[in-house]
Amino acid sequence: MLVPMRAILEAADQHRYGQAAFNMNSVGQIEAAIRIHELLRSGAILQGAEASNAYMSGAQDFMHGTIEQKQAGAKVIGDAVKKYGADSIVPVALHLDHGKSLESVKACIDGGYTSVMIDGSSLPYEDNVALTREVVKYAHPYGVTVEGELGVLAGVEDHVFSATSTYTNPMQAVDFFKKTGCDALAISYGTCHGANKGKDTKIRREIAIATKECMMHEGISGFLVSHGSSTVPQEYVQQINAMGGDLQNAFGIDVNQLVDVTRCGINKINVDTDIRLACTRNLMELFIGSPELQESETVGAIWKAMRANPKNFDPRNYLWSIMPTITTGEVPNADVQKVVNCMKDGVTESIAPLLVQFGSYRKSHLIEAVTCEQMAERYKKAGI
Ligand code: G3H
Ligand code: 13P
Ligand code: ZN
Repeated sequence: MLVPMRAILEAADQHRYGQAAFNMNSVGQIEAAIRIHELLRSGAILQGAEASNAYMSGAQDFMHGTIEQKQAGAKVIGDAVKKYGADSIVPVALHLDHGKSLESVKACIDGGYTSVMIDGSSLPYEDNVALTREVVKYAHPYGVTVEGELGVLAGVEDHVFSATSTYTNPMQAVDFFKKTGCDALAISYGTCHGANKGKDTKIRREIAIATKECMMHEGISGFLVSHGSSTVPQEYVQQINAMGGDLQNAFGIDVNQLVDVTRCGINKINVDTDIRLACTRNLMELFIGSPELQESETVGAIWKAMRANPKNFDPRNYLWSIMPTITTGEVPNADVQKVVNCMKDGVTESIAPLLVQFGSYRKSHLIEAVTCEQMAERYKKAGI
């Protein structure tokens, strides 16, 4: 069933395991992601970023999508998650990743999202508080969970590049929870978005520990989120480069550190880059292993687009020739089926080990089957 993200994070917090959240960029990926969560009996958090919403409306310039495109794409993603998740044996939450405005939040809630992030981290503190509070006031009457962000992660964050990080101040995090009433908070503690996180990055786990400790003392029931947490498996990088890709200095976060922070107060761990890398590697293998596909009328253009930009590993930049399949899941012929299989396998391969390592597998029965309507009642009673 579809649940607010809060239900999934409450179980993770109470039973002390980490819950990964994965970014989705096609209907096939959503189907595969829900399936692997079911096989491993893990609750599922699937996320669409603003750019993904625009992309799933079919917009070419999805990095600069209009609100109309985001509205249309949020519904496409929402419908796909309902199709595969509504009757699922595991609880599924659909979450907006790095929402930037109330308008965008509204589009997602209308489209069927059960959780939203409002990322005001680039704003002055008081403005971040005000924007997040506004979103909480809008979302909680729908029973929709709200994640905020405090502190700035280095790297590309929703196409805003920040060269340095500003770590989250644990005391300010407590103040933020109190003033906004948000359910979850993304903290900046050493991770960063994308495939270039630096070699041997050391997470500042003490920031998570201190924040959670301060929250406990103040009686705040909220959850901490680790963004930019892809592990960037080195064999993906080597295989991509051996097949003509050009990924330089691509390093992720050591998975053991991520497992460690699940015991230090981190409840949700965001992963996007690993999926993109796995899909890219699979597609390169497919086209090199079956050269006739390089000339295929329907999928040959994918190979050409990949060759034209060997640094790119975001499938959204090279899948244009099969856009109707991306947005509907319908497969017109055997060549497209092979591409879809690569994308689905990329999702399954990158997700499965993390569900096991972070500990959410075989825990879906611990998650309360609560609807957004029931959650809305709880917020109302608690006055949040
Ligand atoms: O945190 C950002 C995610 O990796 C989503 O990326 O905005 O390119 O869809 P995107
Ligand atoms: P990665 O780029 O490390 O996968 O981070 C994803 C993320 O934080 C999405 O919000
Ligand atoms: Zn993020």
